[in-house]
Amino acid sequence: MTELNETLILHNIGRLYSFPGPVGGEAMETPVIIEDAAITASGRTITRVGPEKDIWKDAELAPDALCIDCKGKAVVPGFVDPHTHAVFGGTRENELVMKLKGASYLDILASGGGILRTVRETRSLGVPTLIRELDRHLDIMMVHGTTCAEVKSGYGLTPETEMDLLRAVRGSSHPVERVATFMGPHTVPPEYKGRSDGFLDLMISILPAVKSEGLADFADIFCEKGVFSAEQSRRFLSAAKAAGLGTKVHSDEIENLGGTIVGANLGAASADHLLVSTASDLEALKASGTVPVLLPATILSLFEERIPPVKEMLSLGLPIALATDLNPNCMCHSMQFVMALACYRLRMTPHQVLAASTVNAAKAVGLSHRKGRLSPGYDADMVVLKEASFDHVVYQMGTNHVDRVIIGGKSIIEGVGN
Ligand code: NIG
Ligand code: FE
Repeated sequence: MTELNETLILHNIGRLYSFPGPVGGEAMETPVIIEDAAITASGRTITRVGPEKDIWKDAELAPDALCIDCKGKAVVPGFVDPHTHAVFGGTRENELVMKLKGASYLDILASGGGILRTVRETRSLGVPTLIRELDRHLDIMMVHGTTCAEVKSGYGLTPETEMDLLRAVRGSSHPVERVATFMGPHTVPPEYKGRSDGFLDLMISILPAVKSEGLADFADIFCEKGVFSAEQSRRFLSAAKAAGLGTKVHSDEIENLGGTIVGANLGAASADHLLVSTASDLEALKASGTVPVLLPATILSLFEERIPPVKEMLSLGLPIALATDLNPNCMCHSMQFVMALACYRLRMTPHQVLAASTVNAAKAVGLSHRKGRLSPGYDADMVVLKEASFDHVVYQMGTNHVDRVIIGGKSIIEGVGN
């Protein structure tokens, strides 16, 4: 009996925003907005959403239910960050200066820096330290409204260290829910220099163990000039799919090698970056239902002046998602910062940005059945904002608009400062 009672009610919500499901193109402009709303949850799950007067009538509150007065502010679904590399050791602030002096991302990688430097600083860390490092990043993400995040491996590049990175993602008990992605083919480690196929074979050989130990939900590969080719991406992602993992691809970030089409043809859940994607890449995404994940903070971190073909994606009706790409090259934890960039650099509207950071992001990580929406049956992950309209989150840059974060029906943080 008690477990049927509602354990949480948020009331006096000025505006509650949600989308009816993953949305593409024009539908990204029209969230369902309920004014003077309330929302209830029982345990981890949302039970009722609607105008406040109806909710008080219908709610069956437990005697000790948590009752939160939102004071007329807006409530939105917790942000889903569908692309991060949040488990790593060290930092790379020195490369920022190298980039300012003209070195390119691929130059730095080819000279043993970049991902390879982070691999050196990550390999020796055991699982407990990796969990501590991951949790430190998740804390910052959560304070900025992220309630669910995808986290990739890729800074170990040996079977054991890659699996340890995934064990850290699984082993963390942080409130931010994690989706784990095996990204062994992040780059070719020095011991396999000139033998990228041999390294790929090694990473393919551990796919069955990654799957059988339940270490990952997805597999991903960096399809890029000087890293892995489209054919290598097809080989790895086909093997991952055959092993029972979902697939994703880093494609068209710097050069277009055909990785987007490879991913789409395999039914990948998402293709990410897409800075230099062409019309045929976008058509392939449309045909396969693969979510385009855009990473505007990465574009900044690469000092890249171009932007992905957002207009074309929207006119094709693609369900664009946004992500931080948090990694030591792109030290961005905040989905709010990404949202502001998506508006000011990619020319997306606040409503498009909200869809891209909630329902569509949930689809990119295979969780659109329970994340990204404020609707009965969905996880009670939500954010109370400091203002009455979501528009402020994209309009006012560089401050934290989150007042309270609720994850799985529990109020995790409140009264967040700027
Ligand atoms: O998505 N492009 C590959 N991986 C990351 C960067 C990782 C790194 O530089 O450490 C990305 O941008
Ligand atoms: Fe990435």
